[in-house]
Parts: sequence; structure tokens; C-alpha cells
Amino acid sequence: MKDIDINGIKETIVERSDYPIEQCKNNLADEVTAILGYGPQGRGQGLNMRDQGFKVILGLRKGRSWDKALEDGWVEGKTLFETEDAAQQGTILQYLLSDAGQIAAWPMVKANLNDGDALYFSHGFGIVFHKDTKIIPPENVDVILVAPKGSGLTVRTHFQAGRGINSSFAIKQDYTGRARERCISTAFAIGSGHLFETTFEDEVHSDLTGERCVLMGLLQGAFLAQYEVLREHGHSPSEAYNETIEEALQSLYPLVSEKGMDWMYANCSTTAQRGALDWAPKFRDAIKPLVEECYQSVLDGTEAKIAIDSNSSEDYREKLEKELQEVSSQEMWQAGKVLMKGNILKYKSVLHALIPLRRNQPHFAEHSVRIIILT
Ligand SMILES: NC(=O)c1ccc[n+]([C@@H]2O[C@H](COP(=O)([O-])OP(=O)(O)OC[C@H]3O[C@@H](n4cnc5c(N)ncnc54)[C@H](OP(=O)(O)O)[C@@H]3O)[C@@H](O)[C@H]2O)c1
Repeated sequence: MKDIDINGIKETIVERSDYPIEQCKNNLADEVTAILGYGPQGRGQGLNMRDQGFKVILGLRKGRSWDKALEDGWVEGKTLFETEDAAQQGTILQYLLSDAGQIAAWPMVKANLNDGDALYFSHGFGIVFHKDTKIIPPENVDVILVAPKGSGLTVRTHFQAGRGINSSFAIKQDYTGRARERCISTAFAIGSGHLFETTFEDEVHSDLTGERCVLMGLLQGAFLAQYEVLREHGHSPSEAYNETIEEALQSLYPLVSEKGMDWMYANCSTTAQRGALDWAPKFRDAIKPLVEECYQSVLDGTEAKIAIDSNSSEDYREKLEKELQEVSSQEMWQAGKVLMKGNILKYKSVLHALIPLRRNQPHFAEHSVRIIILT
């Protein structure tokens, strides 16, 4: 365990060394983990557990996920079963269907929960918004959560690269007295590196706000706002795209991730520094009320209701495809596709060569990067 203190607020992190994988295996020796669902999370978590030698089976309906599982080497009748069959066999049920799928399959799953089983989630959604989802577990089971802080693909790729993904964990119901041990052992079994304790409520409120705001919604909104302003003032699509997206994603954001915002600011031109330092608070002030509005909409269940209604409709996939097509056909993203065509290999190799160079040359001009890529 490691105690951290951020600005006077103390938190405890559970590290992999606190629960060596052999100890996790001992803790779960009498369990059968049944992973229900093989989307990005079911796949990443399941493959990591299998590779680490845990007793794990999949419960899926026939179709897309089933076929993918067969391709990945799960064996029908041994490690791959129909959803209900696996739910009967499992003592820990990792409920990793889509959030709408969890609502649909709940009556079946509930009927297959035995005394002392554990019901595991990777998102607090189903439990916290139980008025709408109707997911209310019986009292004689453990209810636990491990939420990897990244997509299921990252859960897998980080594990394969020998590093774990950060996850939060929470205990909602401890019927057996072993809920914590089961939760933490499973968290490391699926490939987590560090664990932060949370509650189902905090996990879902922060997660829904994050994806609606900085992680996804605000990101697309901010990109589009800047691109449109540049275009409305006569800048070419390639210039608007490069100044909005290319430089952000390929150069500056990776540096922020690696070295921090202050470092990135310190290593840009003095003109860029001055402007960014002056404008950042204005954006904070303009955007904060909207983030607050979003948080309130998450908190009062409005966002959950919208998601459930939309995701449960028969034509959900078709409507989604149409909306995504609209995003893809925006001039901004079309510009990106055209610019990337033919340049991508050259571009990536140039960047990989330049980023280490920049680290040693603090005032390396951003423009050099663009000129090399686009010529
Ligand atoms: N994606 C992330 O970044 C992320 C991160 C952390 C936590 N989580 C959480 O992890 C959970 C799983 O998410 P995910 O992104 O991996 O998967 P997902 O894409 O949301 O779900 C896909 C899986 O659900 C199955 N499914 C959907 N409806 C079903 C139904 N009615 N009956 C049976 N199976 C059904 C699909 O089967 P078919 O292929 O047969 O349709 C597929 O196996 C969610 O609670 C999510 O919030 C996700």
C-alpha cells in the first residue's frame, strides 16, 4: 500500500506488490470466474486472466462476440458457454455486457446468483441508476467493482507490454466477508497495475462527466469551434486542421502526458506561452458552468435515462451509425483523412525521431514539425 498526499488530501493506493499474483490465485482458488460479455472489456480482462492462469470461462450469446471468442482460442463447452450456462457455473460473475445489455439480461443473471456468489461490475451505472435499470442484487451476494481507467484494448495492450492499467475499485455489498479480497484479487488478475478505492456512485458520476466533457464531448466541441472560426476567417482546411488537431494530438498532448502541462508550456515559444497563459483562465471560466450543468445532469439521473432510452431502442445501431457518419463527414475530419493519406508513415517516423530531440532542445520550434510533415 502506498499513501499519497495531494494538496493535503490523503489517499491509499494498492499496488501489485501488495497482492502478488500467486496470492491472488490462492484467494480465488475455489472460484470460477464467469465473464459475461466479450466487448472490449470482457475480451481484455478475460484474456489477461487466462494468460495469468486464473480459472475463467466466458458466457456469451451466439453471434459476433461468440465468433471473436472462438478466434481468440476459447473452447466451446470448456471455456466458452452460452450466457446462462456460464452464469450458472460462475461463483464470480463479471457482468461485462453493454450497459443496455445488462438491463436486458438482469432477470436471467439474478435468477442464477447463488448464496455467496460475487457480482462484479466495471462501471457503477447499473447499480447506481437502479431506479431505471432495475438492477437490484439480492442481499446474499457480494457486489464489487473494478473499473479500468481506459478502454478494454488498453487493458490488454498494457498487460502485454508488462505494465498494468490503473483501475478504481469499490465494494458495494460484503455478504461473505471476503468481498474486498475477491475484488482486489480479481483486479490484479485482469491486469491492473495500481488500484484506487472509490464508491459505485463516485465512479459513475466522474466517469459519465468525464466522457461527456474533456474526454470526448468537449474535445470534439472544442476542436470544431476552433476549426470553424479559422475557416470562417479564410484559412485553408489544411491550415485549420493542422493548427487544431494535428499539432495537438501528434505533438503537444503526448508531451503533456509524458512531462506535464507546465513542461509543455515551458518548451514552447515565448509567444505561445504568453497567449496560452492568458487564455487558459478565460476558457476555464467559460466552460466551467457547462461542466457543472453536465455534472448536475449526471447526478440527477437525466444522463442515465437518456442513455438507457436511446441505447435500448431497436434501431440504436442504425441511428448511431448515422450520427457517426455525420461526424466523419465533417470537413474537419475529412481534411484529416486527406492530409494523412500518403503522409502517415513518413509523419510517424519523423515524429518519433523529433520527440526525443525536443526533450534535449527546449526551444525547438513547433513549426519545424509541421514543415517537415507537410512537404
Ligand atoms: N469501454 C470502456 O472504455 C470501458 C471502460 C471501463 C469500463 N467499461 C464498462 O465495462 C462494461 C462492458 O463494456 P464494453 O465496452 O466492454 O462492452 P460493450 O461494447 O458495452 O458490450 C458488448 C458486449 O455486450 C454483449 N451484449 C449486449 N447486449 C446483450 C444482450 N442483451 N445479451 C447478451 N449479450 C449482450 C455483446 O454481445 P454481442 O457481441 O453478441 O452483441 C458484447 O459481448 C460496461 O459496463 C462499460 O461501462 C467500459
